[in-house]
Amino acid sequence: MLYHIYPRSFADSDGDGVGDLPGITSRLDHLAWLGIDAIWLSPTFPSPNADWGYDVADYYGVHPELGTLDDLDRLVVEAGRRELRVLLDLVPNHTSDRHPWFVESRASRQSPRRSWYVWAEPASDGSPPNNWVSVFGGGPAWTLDDASGQYYHHAFLPEQPDLNWWSDEVRDEFDRILGFWFDRGVAGVRIDVAHKIVKDWELRDNPPAAPDDPPWIRELGQHERFTANQPGVHDVFRRWRRLADGYEPRRLLLGETYVHDLATLAQFYGRDDELHLAFNFLFVNAASLSTELASIVEATEATLPNGAWPVWTASNHDAGRFATRWCADHERQIRCVLLMLLTLRGTPVLYYGDEIGMANVDIPADCALDPVALRGDPSRGRDQGRTPMQWEGSPGAGFTRSPKRAWLPIGDAATRNVAAERDDAGSTLHFCRDAIALRRSHPALRRGDYEPLRAPDGVWAWRRGGELTVALNLSEREARIDVAVGRIALATRREREGEEVGEPLLLHPWEGVVVGESRTES
Ligand code: GLC
Ligand code: MG
Repeated sequence: MLYHIYPRSFADSDGDGVGDLPGITSRLDHLAWLGIDAIWLSPTFPSPNADWGYDVADYYGVHPELGTLDDLDRLVVEAGRRELRVLLDLVPNHTSDRHPWFVESRASRQSPRRSWYVWAEPASDGSPPNNWVSVFGGGPAWTLDDASGQYYHHAFLPEQPDLNWWSDEVRDEFDRILGFWFDRGVAGVRIDVAHKIVKDWELRDNPPAAPDDPPWIRELGQHERFTANQPGVHDVFRRWRRLADGYEPRRLLLGETYVHDLATLAQFYGRDDELHLAFNFLFVNAASLSTELASIVEATEATLPNGAWPVWTASNHDAGRFATRWCADHERQIRCVLLMLLTLRGTPVLYYGDEIGMANVDIPADCALDPVALRGDPSRGRDQGRTPMQWEGSPGAGFTRSPKRAWLPIGDAATRNVAAERDDAGSTLHFCRDAIALRRSHPALRRGDYEPLRAPDGVWAWRRGGELTVALNLSEREARIDVAVGRIALATRREREGEEVGEPLLLHPWEGVVVGESRTES
């Protein structure tokens, strides 16, 4: 069970309006109380912040706004004392254009680091070398370097030049980076844009989109045939897997595998010799809280290789928060999502604030900071899901003592915050904690098989490990199901816990329950 922290927004210890590592350390007790196993921190490295840390200028350091290397070491130690592990966010696809490697690479065609990045000659008319487009904004994924007359490739912003993963020197350097952090006690890494780091060696044009292609391809204008999921990427992950498994305890590799079909996703697990965990974006991007999710889960179960462990997440720093996207801020629906994440077979990843059902925050145009909003389409800005954690109802929300300096607007902390929910045993926070506790204590929930059950329209029901039944009524109508007999162990409406249910089981609209098999007392 993982917990994803966006460090700039979790807790600000020094009152500069920006969350920092000592702030995270000061809040570890909350995570231990909640029952989390490990935290993943969005990038903590020095960065000019063209893309808020996802443009790294030094893979061996800590961003001064977030703290120091000592602060990070201390965080790892303090987390360890609470049996929490710490994962960092490695960004191997690209660096910042201010990274000394790129500065050197750019200096001349003869630079020893020239081959660390993807440089190419202009087409005969001086235009970019091929038709690849940038994921941010859709313009060419190439920028001309006037001085040397060549273009460099960037899948994202021009400030994020892509590394050349065909270079053995780049591969060796990243082995050193992984070793550097693993030796310091870091428990693993989330791998940014894992599916894209290797590009077609020949830099061939991507096939253009056709009118009947799915929306994400039409939007980009092309298939990512030569810019994603290249066979060579698997060599890199096999190599990292050997490195990670060589540690005791072994270090975790969790990939941001942003792919659109499950067969491709499955490849990133390899033969249990590549990534340990791979994010499932079909699930994250599901349009609504409905039995559509059941279809995605069932297809995932059917497609992943034996032994591969799924990952379920509903919010992140790119997609925003599930409470808004799927639940329109309705408490009953928020609890259904938490119950689902925590009872499926696989690793749940909660995003900070999910445990209180934090919502996206409207960002006035003059407060926008995300380059996607500033340079592209303001309605796609990701700031709304990156706002400060709501710890308390006070003006700084317990996030900062300088509310006026908060780097992004603070949401409605008076109506939804950790302190108030901790005092209320009936709150969503307590529900989330109790669901985590049930999961930890019940082997069927931790490891048991997932077996879908027949259920009426709008209801999603499954059994775990042959023992526990989970049923979610994802509709506005009452429903009756006849697959659960036993005692209700956990319910979104808490007053039902302990109830003995026979068949049929009545579910109110947007109600979810976990039912234990009835056992004969001896
Ligand atoms: C990943 C990150 C996203 C970032 C992008 C470029 O998708 O999750 O936040 O903008 O990579 O690094
Ligand atoms: Mg600070």
